[in-house]
Amino acid sequence: MTTIDEPTEMRSNTDLIGREDINDLETIFSVVGAQEADGRHRVKDNCEAEFTWDYTKGARPKLDKLYEKAKRGQWNGQTDLPWETPVDQEALVIAAAESPQEQNRWGNTSLEGTVLEKWGDKEWMQFGIEQQNWMLSQFMHGEQGALLCTAKIVETVPWIDAKYYAATQVVDEARHVEVFSKYLDEKLSGHYPVNAHLGLLLDDIIADSRWDMTYLGMQIMVEGLALAAFGFMHALTPEPLLKKLLRYVMADEARHVAFGVLSLQDYYQELSAAELRERQEFAFEAAVRMRDRMQLQEVWERMGVPAKDAISVIRQGPERDEFQILLFSKIVPNVKKLGLLDAADGWLRKKFTELGVIEFEDWADATEEADAFADGSPAERGVA
Ligand SMILES: [Fe+2]
Ligand SMILES: [Fe+2]
Repeated sequence: MTTIDEPTEMRSNTDLIGREDINDLETIFSVVGAQEADGRHRVKDNCEAEFTWDYTKGARPKLDKLYEKAKRGQWNGQTDLPWETPVDQEALVIAAAESPQEQNRWGNTSLEGTVLEKWGDKEWMQFGIEQQNWMLSQFMHGEQGALLCTAKIVETVPWIDAKYYAATQVVDEARHVEVFSKYLDEKLSGHYPVNAHLGLLLDDIIADSRWDMTYLGMQIMVEGLALAAFGFMHALTPEPLLKKLLRYVMADEARHVAFGVLSLQDYYQELSAAELRERQEFAFEAAVRMRDRMQLQEVWERMGVPAKDAISVIRQGPERDEFQILLFSKIVPNVKKLGLLDAADGWLRKKFTELGVIEFEDWADATEEADAFADGSPAERGVA
């Protein structure tokens, strides 16, 4: 990311996200993932590890309180979930197609004369199964991103209360990678590599040298979206193991998002308009990448249908967009609470309006999430 001198300097969408029209499908799908030949993906994290000699516990009381809650909120992915539950992927596809939500996403869309016209039951079933594999794979990769980012925060954040809390989040994220990976291996039928857009976003977050950008990218943007996505899947899936797994993960994620807001709130009040503008741009880029990542790009490729053509068909139905927009319901209120919506002449407010997500600005923010401040692990609390 380049540095700007004046908050009023206009950087175009092309400068920020590589295209002027946010909805330009051609450009979105021209970004494809590249796997390293040796299977190892390395990113320079450009950070200085910072020691603090001020060990005063509770100097930041809200972070201290969150740390104490986090210690009591731990659970064991190996023993607290009913892994013996059998999972029938085909039955889940059928159940999803019968749910009104799923019907709405496809129901009003005519497939005549489109690339999907010839698809019969077999293809739709395969597509449903691939979607499950893809979705859980992306959750798993995102969780690994969170694991690495949070380990970085332990190193870079200047305050002891935040280092303590971040250390509990490292354990949380390790557990999340573990349970999604186990679910994929034992219950589903295939893996997907990290989505190209998600991969670029995780790389950007890790590579940024400023400690607060890790929080903004991960705790506010990626985890905010994850919390909403997990919430939808938790509400929609009839599969009891996944339901419980997601509910447990969500209890942790609510804390993580609250950690981001509590840590950045005061710090952002000290920043200049130019510095805030950089944060706004970073938030906008992240939002666009996350929206791009939801297009099932790799699933269409595996099904042998050009992603651009398939998405054009789906976009004819307004419900699909509505679903994607709802994924931002946990992000916008937190960005507002941090003062980023209206700083620098309301630049981000304009951008979020363009993205169609500004309507969520007055929804509950992370510091109002009951789960974030709840005592006891989900297992102890009997969370279903
Ligand atoms: Fe997580
Ligand atoms: Fe998290």
